[in-house]
Amino acid sequence: MHPARIGLVVLLAALLVAGAQAMRSNGEKTNQAAGQTTDIEMENPDPTALTIQPDIPSLKDVFAGDFKLGTAIPVSAITSQDGPDAQLLIKHFNSITAENELKWDATEPREGQFDFTRADPIVKFAVNNGIGLRGHTLVWHSQTPDWVFHDEAGNLVSKEVLFARMKQHIQTVAGRYKGQIYAWDVVNEVLEPGDHAPGGLRNSLWYQIAGEEYIEKAFIYAREVDPNAKLFINDYNTNMPDKRQDLYDLIKRLKDKGIPVDGVGHQTHIGIEYPSVQELDDMVTAFRDLAIEQQITEMDMSIYTNDVDAYDTFPLDLQIKQAKRYQAIFDVFRKHKDQVNSVTIWGKDDGNTWLRSFPVNRNNWPLLFDERLQAKYAYWALVDPDRVPEETSQAADSATHSGVWQVCHDEEANPTEGVVAPENAGCFADRLQPNTR
Ligand code: XIL
Repeated sequence: MHPARIGLVVLLAALLVAGAQAMRSNGEKTNQAAGQTTDIEMENPDPTALTIQPDIPSLKDVFAGDFKLGTAIPVSAITSQDGPDAQLLIKHFNSITAENELKWDATEPREGQFDFTRADPIVKFAVNNGIGLRGHTLVWHSQTPDWVFHDEAGNLVSKEVLFARMKQHIQTVAGRYKGQIYAWDVVNEVLEPGDHAPGGLRNSLWYQIAGEEYIEKAFIYAREVDPNAKLFINDYNTNMPDKRQDLYDLIKRLKDKGIPVDGVGHQTHIGIEYPSVQELDDMVTAFRDLAIEQQITEMDMSIYTNDVDAYDTFPLDLQIKQAKRYQAIFDVFRKHKDQVNSVTIWGKDDGNTWLRSFPVNRNNWPLLFDERLQAKYAYWALVDPDRVPEETSQAADSATHSGVWQVCHDEEANPTEGVVAPENAGCFADRLQPNTR
């Protein structure tokens, strides 16, 4: 071929790769963009196609003797049942959580009108592939439609009406998937010490209408409908000593009353610096004597320590630091494997993470696989730590620093494509770890 023509082909291919990478970081699939390559020369037929690494160890096998290894996905990840996203899931994970599809606003947007069009495919995918499923979540203050709490005149409903609505919701949703979900987050984020309610309970509409009893009822209804699912209370910042104590006390009160709480879920949305590994160790230790199961339900590791920084590329020193921190934290989980029976990472690849729109829109690289589904150092730290370079400070210039793109305002959250934006997702401004404040 004429050298000029070769140059053109190379240029076109490079443009396609760059364009497709940009699209993927916006949540669009590079393998869709790849179809466009057919018009040009076939020397490099599909430079942008995503392929997983088929020969690297499966994470779920690495941890087979310890705990289930899970991830969270939007339904769009399995649109193609044998595409690279699905292949990555099947190869590495033996537990899946639906990222939004089982939440109240997705399953019962209007009273009595249930919609399982987004949840069913995920459940089916998990069952067909022998992957366990965590149910997330039955009762939460967020991503829950307003009608749940109000009457037609806009007033708060009575406790009796609220419980009747809750019961119908739990019976229908948990009933539909009975026997297919091994653990339900029955209640999510019921604590918020900053609200200064007794016991550190969150002053949500659930609480305002029904007090602590709403938590009891949720567990009772869930046990009635699916007696074999393990029933969890799930929350974030459970490492922080005050909140941890509130959670401990709440579970103790519930158990003393005979409420069927089987486990505590630690979300574990953490940062590159905070909390310390020791604090995470203490977190698990703190719940030991309650004789309940523990699960890590939503782990990710933001690379930032505040809401202002933003990198265009992922600095090498932070890649290494993140990897070593993943390793140290997983060592703790392993040490407590008699307590911790499932560890879920909140997303499978850095191109699809809620941390690219929360708490602000910016790049972030919190997970184990990169945007192109390739194993990061964070993955290797868990699988073969010798493959992670020693920490280096040289890499600061390997990345440019561009500042936050756009501040996320309530009701204007703009999650990456493939993650459905809930109407009331907001910015979750109340939930930040101290390090990201
Ligand atoms: C997040 C999802 O990842 C986002 O796609 C969505 O916009 C908002 O919710 N704690 C939880 C999860 O319990 O349900 C949240 O998931 C992350 C924080």
